[in-house]
Amino acid sequence: MSQGYIIWFTGLSGAGKSTIAAALAEVLRERDQRVEVLDGDVVRTHLSKGLGFSKEDRDTNVRRIGWVCDLVSRHGGVAIAAAISPYRQTREEIRASTARFVEVYIDCPLEVCIDRDVKGLYAKALAGEIPHFTGVSDPYEPPTNPEVVIPSHAESLDASVARIVNTLEELGYLP
Ligand code: PPS
Repeated sequence: MSQGYIIWFTGLSGAGKSTIAAALAEVLRERDQRVEVLDGDVVRTHLSKGLGFSKEDRDTNVRRIGWVCDLVSRHGGVAIAAAISPYRQTREEIRASTARFVEVYIDCPLEVCIDRDVKGLYAKALAGEIPHFTGVSDPYEPPTNPEVVIPSHAESLDASVARIVNTLEELGYLP
């Protein structure tokens, strides 16, 4: 059985992780890859139901996602994770525990995420109504050596997906 891999999206809320992950999944499926997407928001309604946003709970959430992604990749699938996953060391832990890990940093400035405020959460966080909100009152640690950096505020969705696909080809993961 061929070896799968993990594509790990990290970035602020509203940076575009879910959108780009879904579009990438579609392109990879068209190329006969078996793909599972683990989106933070969705995972929190099932696998991580009941967890909050303390460092401990976020790390638990991220480790659970990493564990499932590893299972998928060990069975030859492509696992795409899209979670804020704000702590560098926890992401590195997952990288170290799996065979093939591609980190994609969705590098969208906080001001742009605040401007977009797709879910209205930044307004609430800035008003002090949501404690420990990433980028406002909780840390986000950007990756130091990601395989791909996506400036989602400055390039089209198609261009972002194409750059990730190119990287997968260069790494020899995508035939
Ligand atoms: S983490 O840090 O990886 O465990 O977060 P994740 O599982 O990706 O969940 C992020 C989504 O939860 C919503 N939300 C918050 N985000 C950040 N901080 C706080 N305090 C918070 N409370 C709720 C928010 O909608 C995030 O969705 P995305 O898709 O990232 O915008």
